[in-house]
Amino acid sequence: SEFETILTDVTDGVATITINRPKALNALNLQVLTDITDAATAFDADDSVKAIIITGSEKAFAAGADIKEMSSLDFATAYKADWFAGWTRLTDVRKPVITAVGGYALGGGCELAMMGDILIASTKAKFGQPEINLGVLPGMGGSQRLTRAVGKAKAMDMCLTGRMMGAEEAERSGLVARVVEPEALLETANEIAQTIASKSRIASAMVKEAVNTAFETTLEQGLRYERRLFHSSLATNDQSEGMAAFVEKRDPNFTDS
Ligand code: HXC
Repeated sequence: SEFETILTDVTDGVATITINRPKALNALNLQVLTDITDAATAFDADDSVKAIIITGSEKAFAAGADIKEMSSLDFATAYKADWFAGWTRLTDVRKPVITAVGGYALGGGCELAMMGDILIASTKAKFGQPEINLGVLPGMGGSQRLTRAVGKAKAMDMCLTGRMMGAEEAERSGLVARVVEPEALLETANEIAQTIASKSRIASAMVKEAVNTAFETTLEQGLRYERRLFHSSLATNDQSEGMAAFVEKRDPNFTDS
């Protein structure tokens, strides 16, 4: 493969990125950042791909940013390079991204899991923001996306104590969309991705844009934005096809146009 730290696969319109640094529990060094964002950007541009899955191993989705790489990092270097800003290439991806967490999702691992659109977890998953134990704080969205996902009470609890949250608590708190048995994790991720892949790609990209807008605007602005996107959707062939198929009691044949 062209990548050092990830495995990639495309099957039936679904691209899967598997983080593969088992010796470091998939810790996210610069190479992993580059590999994941390069792969995701390429899949985003690839017309045969409709949805992307990011996963790790059964033991670790990712145990965080790479502590060994960061241990000698100083302020000037990190500031000049805007360390971690490279991850915005992943959140710029317009196709739906499913993150499937089998084991540890700690620090940057939890933050990476939260960069996806649908987060699913195995019953063995463990989420945490343990940066406080290292004398630092989250740096890839942990204090922001976690707070938006679970609210201030649990975000403060997690980030200040560094404790881990199991899958059940994570689902109850709104961090995780679905919890499944470990052996069903990838199958479920694939089912979700295939379901999305069967829809209009224009419609799914609009859904992603609309939901993400909820985190960035007032309700009034968000509702107007959603309405305008809805109006735009009426200009697509997929809208004509989707509604005609319903009326004619048949399956739609979307053409992403
Ligand atoms: C580098 C890591 C790592 C990490 C694990 N490893 N996590 N290397 N960075 N984040 C390495 C270990 O050093 C070890 O390598 C190997 O992976 C196996 O890990 P063990 O600790 O032996 O496994 P285990 O005892 O099962 O414990 C699992 C664990 C523990 C609980 C997940 O590894 C752990 O606490 N990891 C660190 C978690 C963490 O603090 N993450 C947040 C990082 S900071 P060797 O070579 O010894 O075999 C962050 C954001 C920073 O993510 C942003 C602000 C700057």
